[in-house]
Amino acid sequence: MSSVIITGGTGLVGKALSKRLVLQGFSVIILSRDPAAHRSLSPSITYAAWNINDQSINEEAVNNAKYIIHLAGAGVADKRWTEKRKREIRDSRIKSSQLLVKALTQIPNQVEAVVSASAIGWYRESSGGQAVETDPPDSGFLGETCRLWEEHIQPVTALGKRLVILRSGIVLSNDGGAFPEFKKPVKLGIAAILGNGKQIISWIHLDDLCRIYLEAMINLKWTGIYNAVAPQPVTNKTFMIELGKRIKGNFYIPFPVSGFLLHSLLGEKSIEVLKSSNVSCDKIKKQGFQFIYPTLGSAFSDLLRR
Ligand SMILES: NC(=O)c1ccc[n+]([C@@H]2O[C@H](COP(=O)([O-])OP(=O)(O)OC[C@H]3O[C@@H](n4cnc5c(N)ncnc54)[C@H](OP(=O)(O)O)[C@@H]3O)[C@@H](O)[C@H]2O)c1
Repeated sequence: MSSVIITGGTGLVGKALSKRLVLQGFSVIILSRDPAAHRSLSPSITYAAWNINDQSINEEAVNNAKYIIHLAGAGVADKRWTEKRKREIRDSRIKSSQLLVKALTQIPNQVEAVVSASAIGWYRESSGGQAVETDPPDSGFLGETCRLWEEHIQPVTALGKRLVILRSGIVLSNDGGAFPEFKKPVKLGIAAILGNGKQIISWIHLDDLCRIYLEAMINLKWTGIYNAVAPQPVTNKTFMIELGKRIKGNFYIPFPVSGFLLHSLLGEKSIEVLKSSNVSCDKIKKQGFQFIYPTLGSAFSDLLRR
């Protein structure tokens, strides 16, 4: 049974991905800052410790792994972006990537591939066409964070490991992330349209994202950077109106939330919430990946019936 390390595997993506990997016959070792806090859902999923601050890692996990999936990082949306929090968001990704590179350099291992998360926060505000993987990074906080994250995991290629970086869009799931937050006001009959509502959201259903991680991990043809977004980005207004219709029929009110109010509520993070992000998935489609949830309608139909 091949073994897969998932860093930060206790989060939204990691939990779903672990289950999928176990169903595919892999054993999973989740690297967590606090492994004792988690109870395994399967004998094939175990927890081990790492500490990015003192750069320590469970050596046996590295000895045994065939693949590493790197998801760990402080939540971007969880708290207000104070300088301290921004440092935590950035440093957690830099130090964790450095630790993986150090581990793969110093600990005997048979790791064949590393698949690392990144985000479409890499890209500049869209103005017309779709963002592609070769576009330069945005100079804002998220663009800079993604640039540093990707730069610090890159050295694994010099160790002979195949590296895939997945710049993922907003992940849609009922189990966490943005979607439950989008749903809350709609259930009360309010579809919150943020700013002028014209900003584009590039999203992906969690199941499709996990299928992309799996494919990137096992398929030797995957190497380098890929956008992990569905083929149908939509405006914030379209997203919220469609969600309103699905949840409340005709019984909801589109409610504009001004950029000014968002800024007072969220601070600097409001820039990202209002940023238009129209991102292309052409590269993964050319790689042969087929989406189960290519349209917003198909994703909503699945998520709202669960
Ligand atoms: N969800 C999205 O919409 C989305 C979109 C684009 C990109 N991404 C990226 O994809 C990755 C996985 O996403 P996710 O939604 O599963 O994230 P998540 O639910 O926030 O989980 C991330 C995991 O990282 C670990 N972590 C948190 N703070 C940390 C810190 N300061 N230092 C080291 N580890 C820390 C935690 O594991 P332990 O507590 O067990 O250590 C946590 O479970 C993240 O890096 C995220 O930025 C997510």
